[in-house]
Amino acid sequence: MRIAVLGLGAVGRGLLQMLAAKPELGFVLTAVADSTSARIDPDGLDPVAILDEKCGTGRCAPSGLSAADVIASGAYDVLVELTPTNAMTGEPALTHIRSALESGRHVVTSNKGPIATDYSGLAALADDARVALRFEATVGGAIPVLHAIRDGLAGNSYSSITGVLNGTCNYILTRMDDEGLTYEQALTEARELGYAEADPTYDVRGIDAAIKLVILANTCWGLGVTLDDVAITGIDGLTVDALRLAATQDCTIRLIGEAVPAENLLRVAPRVLPRNHPLVIKGTLNAIMLSTDMAGEVTLMGKGAGSVETASALIGDLIAIRDRYDGSG
Ligand SMILES: NC(=O)c1ccc[n+]([C@@H]2O[C@H](COP(=O)([O-])OP(=O)(O)OC[C@H]3O[C@@H](n4cnc5c(N)ncnc54)[C@H](OP(=O)(O)O)[C@@H]3O)[C@@H](O)[C@H]2O)c1
Repeated sequence: MRIAVLGLGAVGRGLLQMLAAKPELGFVLTAVADSTSARIDPDGLDPVAILDEKCGTGRCAPSGLSAADVIASGAYDVLVELTPTNAMTGEPALTHIRSALESGRHVVTSNKGPIATDYSGLAALADDARVALRFEATVGGAIPVLHAIRDGLAGNSYSSITGVLNGTCNYILTRMDDEGLTYEQALTEARELGYAEADPTYDVRGIDAAIKLVILANTCWGLGVTLDDVAITGIDGLTVDALRLAATQDCTIRLIGEAVPAENLLRVAPRVLPRNHPLVIKGTLNAIMLSTDMAGEVTLMGKGAGSVETASALIGDLIAIRDRYDGSG
């Protein structure tokens, strides 16, 4: 199966490293692009050579081609879209993904923007073209929650999804609870360790978690909701005193995303939870609890971000597509 990769940041490079490390997967890299360059070879590119060039020059090719040329080339079966997230417009990924689906190509993405802004439109395009649109890496990093919903727990009805969906917030709350740090101290530490962006607004105000909740709700129930439908409270107003008060009841506080369709509830907010609750996890981990009719409560926990961890989710999607559509797989 031939794959084209748009975006060679942390995630794109992690994917190329794994393609190089696991040739037995049998994926052929035929095109790559970053923000200023692109390279296309229908006979296959060497992922290691691309990584070396990107590392040495900051680009994946000298000049000339762009991401649009990669998409138009048609020299791929699956477009892997890994450009930066824009939660408001979904661009440039929305245009990339629409173009690939319209030309009958499968799409795998880690980019939350297009899935949160136009899931129904993209799903309809994929249906019309009889191709796959998969986005496991948009929620929970390495945690295979969308696979679990679609495959492992197929046939179940879901009454609710609750989860710790943002590792930066979970790290900050863990440090405030364990060490008595103030919010500002814990945020500074998270920045120093590379867990928080220079501008952490999306994370600490709960927007990143809300986008992931929207993706989960739309995937699980086809609700067709958007970010505007989520009631969002971040952790930026949280004090150490609130955590201390929770501790007197053997509880702590976590930023929890919660979707309960029967109650019309779609919310991200700090919640007081008993310390032995399955969603009270430490550090940058993510956890997602699915309440089902047959399997009961199923909680998945793992690394919510990271270069190779996210590549794991992308490769899972690529293999699912190959198994379903590609006779050679
Ligand atoms: N990092 C994680 O752990 C993680 C986990 C889950 C999901 N995600 C999502 O996965 C996506 C990629 O994340 P990342 O951490 O790899 O981001 P990143 O490090 O910022 O890299 C983004 C890449 O996209 C390229 N790019 C930007 N605009 C482009 C365009 N118009 N056409 C083609 N390439 C373009 C950039 O090019 P240059 O190299 O030229 O700047 C860069 O290579 C994001 O949407 C992110 O939210 C990330």
